[in-house]
Amino acid sequence: MRVMIFGATGLLGRALMREWQSDEVTGLGSKDADIRVVEQVNAAIREYRPEYAVLAAAYTDVDGCEIHSQLAFDVNCHGAANVANACAQENIPLLFLSTDYVFDGNKRTPYETDDPIDPQTVYGKSKAAAEAEIRKIHPAYCILRTSWVFGVGGKCFPDTILKLAETKADLDVVNDQRGNPTYTVDLARAIIQLCSKGARGTVHATNRGDCTWFDFAARIVAEANMKTRVRPTSSDKFVRPAKRPQYSVLSSRSLAELGLEMPTWQDASRRYLAERSLRTP
Ligand SMILES: NC(=O)c1ccc[n+]([C@@H]2O[C@H](COP(=O)([O-])OP(=O)(O)OC[C@H]3O[C@@H](n4cnc5c(N)ncnc54)[C@H](OP(=O)(O)O)[C@@H]3O)[C@@H](O)[C@H]2O)c1
Repeated sequence: MRVMIFGATGLLGRALMREWQSDEVTGLGSKDADIRVVEQVNAAIREYRPEYAVLAAAYTDVDGCEIHSQLAFDVNCHGAANVANACAQENIPLLFLSTDYVFDGNKRTPYETDDPIDPQTVYGKSKAAAEAEIRKIHPAYCILRTSWVFGVGGKCFPDTILKLAETKADLDVVNDQRGNPTYTVDLARAIIQLCSKGARGTVHATNRGDCTWFDFAARIVAEANMKTRVRPTSSDKFVRPAKRPQYSVLSSRSLAELGLEMPTWQDASRRYLAERSLRTP
């Protein structure tokens, strides 16, 4: 099968390009096709004639989106609609990457795929608007919501923590936001399987288990055998332009219904550290 990945130069996209060996994959970054430009999207689809498309391209700077809201909607919503239109015209099934930020963060049990959405940030609103556009435009869609993505080869939470831990004796990390860390390698493998199963509708895919950012940081520092003390703190000590959800745990039920299960986040953290030490010079 010929597969096209929009966003192949990003954190997840690079893992997808490495993991996806079973099909003929073409990966595009923003220089190859800017998804805001209809002609560029259509030209890419015409040139490579994919039989399946994955849309991982997005403006993902959550705080940046609050300041540059037009850019957020141009890329995340209108760009996604351009890709959905191009795929719909050619009957190409589309898997779209969405986010836990479409929810309000007020629940205290895992979010199911059919829970009402109520995004609280510009980023979340732009992705929620994209979901709605895609459902309207293209019958053959799979909307995959994920969260707290980390992996080798880009900026991510554990990488930031490990770099800080090299120079600091103490690190304060928020302990009042709960979610599911998700390793790019495991997410890429899940996407490949979802694609081969022809999954449709809305699916939640994260590593198994949930934790706070403090738990995640403490685990990473301990596994890396570093001496830094990780201390719990609260979100009011780290005020940022975009409000973070207090609780954005995604239920694994939809994935289980498709016969898939992802490894735990603790197992994923260990493999991330091993991969990072191999790839870091
Ligand atoms: N990171 C997370 O924690 C997280 C959580 C939930 C959901 N997601 C979703 O997962 C997907 C992948 O995230 P990620 O962390 O891998 O993102 P990322 O590392 O920020 O990469 C973003 C990708 O989008 C491309 N892109 C940006 N603007 C574009 C444009 N105008 N036209 C075409 N391509 C454009 C970038 O291309 P260039 O680099 O070539 O410019 C890059 O390949 C996104 O849809 C994101 O919303 C991420």
